[in-house]
Amino acid sequence: TILIVDFGSQVTQLIARRVREAGVYCEIAPFNAAEEAFEKLQPKGIILSGSPASVPAAESPRAPQMLFDSGLPILGICYGQQVMSHQLGGEVRPGHETGEGGEFGRAFLTVTEDCALFDGLWKKGERHQVWMSHGDKVTQFADGFEIVAVSDGAPFAVIADESRKYYGTQFHPEVHHTPDGAKLIANFVRHVCGLKGDWTMGAYRDAKIAEIREQVGDGKVICGLSGGVDSSVAAILIHEAIGDQLTCVFVDHGLLRLNEREQVETLFRDHYNIPLVVVDAEERFMNGLEGVTDPEKKRKFIGAEFIAVFEEEAKKLGGADFLAQGTLYPDVIESVSFTGGPSVTIKSHHNVGGLPERMNMKLVEPLRELFKDEVRDLGRELGLNDQFVGRHPFPGPGLAIRIPGEVTKKRCDILRKADAIYLDEIRKAGLYDAIWQAFAVLLPVRTVGVMGDYRTYDSVCGLRAVTSVDGMTADVYPFESQFLQDVATRIVNEVQGVNRVVYDYTSKPPGTIEWE
Ligand code: XMP
Repeated sequence: TILIVDFGSQVTQLIARRVREAGVYCEIAPFNAAEEAFEKLQPKGIILSGSPASVPAAESPRAPQMLFDSGLPILGICYGQQVMSHQLGGEVRPGHETGEGGEFGRAFLTVTEDCALFDGLWKKGERHQVWMSHGDKVTQFADGFEIVAVSDGAPFAVIADESRKYYGTQFHPEVHHTPDGAKLIANFVRHVCGLKGDWTMGAYRDAKIAEIREQVGDGKVICGLSGGVDSSVAAILIHEAIGDQLTCVFVDHGLLRLNEREQVETLFRDHYNIPLVVVDAEERFMNGLEGVTDPEKKRKFIGAEFIAVFEEEAKKLGGADFLAQGTLYPDVIESVSFTGGPSVTIKSHHNVGGLPERMNMKLVEPLRELFKDEVRDLGRELGLNDQFVGRHPFPGPGLAIRIPGEVTKKRCDILRKADAIYLDEIRKAGLYDAIWQAFAVLLPVRTVGVMGDYRTYDSVCGLRAVTSVDGMTADVYPFESQFLQDVATRIVNEVQGVNRVVYDYTSKPPGTIEWE
């Protein structure tokens, strides 16, 4: 195991990924909880992350001294290198003092000495591309270190103390733009720390099952299913661990995609034999949405109503000790933040937040350390087929935020049909997996058309498809024009109530992926 100490860098999660890709298990702990994590994990090596903070500033974070006393190998990345140098007796100066700007973006370094990090990869005298992002820099390194690579802006681009197995890189090996970065990290965890690199998703699954059994004991667990990949994988994993101590609840709010409820029922009841309660709450949601047109009001109503329904069902089941959630690493916001200021709410996302305290339940979140594609791997490990694990994300408020204006059952039915045709064509064209998310929206606008010899006056359907890595930014998917024409024709011909189809060419930002 590797312990990654997080100082609040935007890319700490990527370090974890790279370590796992090297076949080694790791966990991330914020710097102020690193000692406890160390005791729990008993790691074989430590990685110190980057940070938006500045080492010379008095209030900036430090690594617990016990990490340096542990005798284990340490890799410090960017701020991690600087804080390590500082704590071991070197000097770090802010960019404004040295009078030299920082380095941001692509840089080239020259290898000046051999080093265990470079084994089988970089040789003395070679130049290599790396990704830098720093203002401060080490100006005097600590005793025992030597320089093994330099760049124009950072004389201490890589420093090493081979006897203590301490390494520091001023650049970021974890990001994609350092082409050899993943191999450097693999060298650290395998060659330097001596870990075998035989960790697999199967091993992760077994470890998690043991952990869930230990946490839950003979308690009862309730899990809200959304039909999406994350909550499904969490539920199946927990069921493997504790069997019928788990009950799943699926709230059909009438805002689901075509046949989605049946798919969930078949998967959970017939395939996995997991106890499942399906709540038919369509009427309740539709009544509550009557006359509501403001996007935030829609979201808030759906979120609150969802919790109310879920709570009622949990009570009917006689309560539970634990609530299971498919929270992923990118959703985990408890990581360190130095920016302080509250970020602006663009949209109120909802999950079943608030419930655990109200109902006095503890949380079971077995996917907290994983990224989306790793959850998909775990899903396959648990026997889910590719079609299911590869499903596009679907928002909690469902079709309601794809129907600008008032949401009615009739409009949901129209949208469901159009959406199913669009996705059917995308699947047939073999494009589904190349797209992050594709869906139809139904606009509150009617336009005039002509079908046969008749005048029509019906709704406009919008089509959206984007590529993205994490949903935070997105590009428009560039369909062939003929493909869109074919989809448009099918929708107008087959879906009563739609007589015009438009394609959304807005990236994110400035648009968001969903329309509300
Ligand atoms: P936006 O529209 O904010 O969406 O660009 C980014 C990603 O998040 C999904 N999304 C949600 N997911 N509950 C969810 O579980 C929500 O309330 C919610 N709103 C948006 C959206 O589908 C996209 O993948």
